[in-house]
Amino acid sequence: MRHLFSLALWAACSASAQEEVPFITTPDQVTLAMLQIAAVGPADHVIDLGSGDGRIVITAAKGFGASGLGVEIVPDLVQQSLANARRAGVAARVDFREQDLFRTELGRATVVTMYLLPEVNLQLRPRLLALAPGTRIVSHDWDLGDWAPDRTLNIDVPDKAIGREKLSRVHLWTVPAPVQGLWCSAGASLQITQRFQTFSAVLSERGAAAPLVVFDGRINGAALTGTGLHAAALQWRGTALNPTLSAALLPAAANAWIGRNFVRAGPAGC
Ligand SMILES: C[S@@+](CC[C@H](N)C(=O)[O-])C[C@H]1O[C@@H](n2cnc3c(N)ncnc32)[C@H](O)[C@@H]1O
Repeated sequence: MRHLFSLALWAACSASAQEEVPFITTPDQVTLAMLQIAAVGPADHVIDLGSGDGRIVITAAKGFGASGLGVEIVPDLVQQSLANARRAGVAARVDFREQDLFRTELGRATVVTMYLLPEVNLQLRPRLLALAPGTRIVSHDWDLGDWAPDRTLNIDVPDKAIGREKLSRVHLWTVPAPVQGLWCSAGASLQITQRFQTFSAVLSERGAAAPLVVFDGRINGAALTGTGLHAAALQWRGTALNPTLSAALLPAAANAWIGRNFVRAGPAGC
């Protein structure tokens, strides 16, 4: 029953995406801006969700040396993309598949690009947030709700096919390490409250009545940096299942904890 419900829900989601996200190409100057803002390079694997005629993935390969995958629900567009890739001389580095973007495995992506719709972006958001810390997400025009972008560019597009503004927005997010929760080291605990790419942390020594330090900061991929008066630099390492946090810099009162590894608390706490 539950399985049937999930299938029905998935069918509803994909049908709405297919019906509601029409084929509209990203203009060339916006494609370039999307790849530049993500600093795409030869080490990157770019996945374009709803790849249309393949232009974003093909430009990533031809102009930036990346490899890539485009997934597209319309068969003719997939064939057109494969032909365009051959013409551009990048067929060996890119692939295009007739595939639903909601059923696409994203784990290999270092960069995900999208020109979809706000509600489709929101449906994808949990899966984007679960990608490896440091993965860049770039969206043409639409945002990801209350997950604020790290950067936004406004680009004049006088001949834009849709909208009255004749302007394209390019938004960039870097997937933050998942650091929410309690972390433990011998003799200390670190309680982190995370909201997307911002955090606040409370470092306490075991048995002490009051916290040693409280500091806030921003998360850029695997790197946590203190903001305001509290200099702090922590690094997330490992995997989602087995992560560690270590500090290269902490507010002065907590200097003794620099270089220690913090691991996730078990069910019984630290
Ligand atoms: C606005 S176009 C963007 C095309 C291309 N990414 C670009 O920026 O030029 C969106 C594309 O998503 C495709 N699409 C819509 N729903 C999809 C789905 N569920 N899975 C895969 N592709 C889908 C549409 O057919 C269309 O080609």
